[in-house]
Amino acid sequence: MLEISGVSKRYGPVNVLDDVSLTLRAGEVHALVGENGAGKSTLVRIAAGMVRPDRGQVLVEGRPLRSSTPRAARAAGVEIVTQELTSVPARSVLENVFLGMGVAAVGRLGRSEASARFRKLCDETGFVLPPGAVVRELSIADRQVLEVLRCLVREPRVLILDEPTSSLDEQRADQLLELLRRLAGRGVAVAMVSHHLREVLSSADTVSVLRDGALVSSAPVGAEDEASLIQKMVGRPLRAMYAPKAPPPEGAEVVLEASEVWRGNVVRGVSLSVRAGEIVGLAGLVGSGRSELARCLVGADRLDRGVLRVAGAGARGFRSPRAAGAAGVVMVPEDRKQQGLVLGRSVAENLALSTRKGPFRWGFATKRRMRQDAAEWVERSDVRPRDPGRLVRHLSGGNQQKVLLSKWLACGPRVLIADEPTRGVDVGAKAAIHRMIADAASAGIGVVLISSELEELMGMSHRIVVFRKGEVVAEFDGGTADRERIIAAAFGARPERASL
Ligand SMILES: Nc1ncnc2c1ncn2[C@@H]1O[C@H](COP(=O)(O)OP(=O)(O)OP(=O)(O)O)[C@@H](O)[C@H]1O
Ligand SMILES: [Mg+2]
Repeated sequence: MLEISGVSKRYGPVNVLDDVSLTLRAGEVHALVGENGAGKSTLVRIAAGMVRPDRGQVLVEGRPLRSSTPRAARAAGVEIVTQELTSVPARSVLENVFLGMGVAAVGRLGRSEASARFRKLCDETGFVLPPGAVVRELSIADRQVLEVLRCLVREPRVLILDEPTSSLDEQRADQLLELLRRLAGRGVAVAMVSHHLREVLSSADTVSVLRDGALVSSAPVGAEDEASLIQKMVGRPLRAMYAPKAPPPEGAEVVLEASEVWRGNVVRGVSLSVRAGEIVGLAGLVGSGRSELARCLVGADRLDRGVLRVAGAGARGFRSPRAAGAAGVVMVPEDRKQQGLVLGRSVAENLALSTRKGPFRWGFATKRRMRQDAAEWVERSDVRPRDPGRLVRHLSGGNQQKVLLSKWLACGPRVLIADEPTRGVDVGAKAAIHRMIADAASAGIGVVLISSELEELMGMSHRIVVFRKGEVVAEFDGGTADRERIIAAAFGARPERASL
């Protein structure tokens, strides 16, 4: 259905793709894996006409694309869900779904026709979004689902997805993977970039591995397992993922204490405390209130009721994230593109922007100092390439994530709230981020860790607190918690019914 033939691409001195050829067949789900920066996104963007290769070409059903433009690819039936969200925040769900179909497509179709088609799409896919909701107000998970629906409404013959499950909880991720299988069953060619090897192994027919811009292998999924894929991705065998935890601090100062905190319908009487040096993991489904609580903790949202003492702030919490930052309470937000990084600035500048007093404290003479600090963080967090001068926009998604975490650790916080800190990060880099968080805790920082990956929560946390529908429903010791019991609590089901 789609053939990538001898494609090469350089950005300046960086050889991003080197003579890559790949075949995508009708009816298959083809997974593409590789470390951060391996060139996966660049490759799929080339396939979708978004990036022009220096050499090689893309053929759809044997015919070369007329030009390297999204329009040409789309005309040939190729749709892509990119790694970053592209929907228009100020428009409704319905408008966004039909947006790419031409100017004012909703207007042209007529609202009732558009609504009917949207409803049909929801029925067919099993994903239900409120058509009238303004996209800005949707959760990240819903926005990711929206990106998929936007492509599907055009009934593509080739559907490419770049890390489509990265913002979804396990249940919705499974639902999406099932949908992809169904589409393949109808003859669509599906290509999917993913860092979740388990989902790759359970859902794909074929898996291709990219390493440093070269295709290392392309094989039926039955020929691979997690270890073989990792070996091919990183060129070395698997290491133990989680270092043994430092013991939880006993009697250390409580740096964060929430009691009976309420916020609208989403945070319902939550009590929680975190000591200096402690890592407290928050488990729960997407929308269970974890991110909303985090927003209250850093003053991004106000509480309606309750008492919130963070790092000595008054009983109502902080007035703003800025005030929280000044008191040493920082959050690595869920959505790096919108809240975290200034994409048009360099890595060094982004790191400096966060330090409490800012880069201007030192004046111009210290640009060099800034670079040096940045170089250290880039090394510690394994940002690739190791170039603090590079614009953040030109880093791969996973490497942006590493910069984001470094940025907040660089300002020496007392409390770190990390919301999905390893989303979209490869296995090696994930270990680097885990190490950074564990080191931060050992240095006495109180950490709140929100993650949709139970392995990560269990591997990192001293304590795990489970949220459901805005309430804390269970708490487990990080050393003895087990997966089934956490899932059961998150779903409000008996363990045997909560099968994931
Ligand atoms: N516009 C650009 N200008 C300069 N360099 C770029 C640009 N786009 C990508 N790169 C570089 O190309 C390399 C591959 O990036 P790409 O986004 O394809 O990686 P990836 O495999 O998708 O990684 P990730 O898993 O982190 O998303 C990276 O080193 C990145 O810094
Ligand atoms: Mg990518």
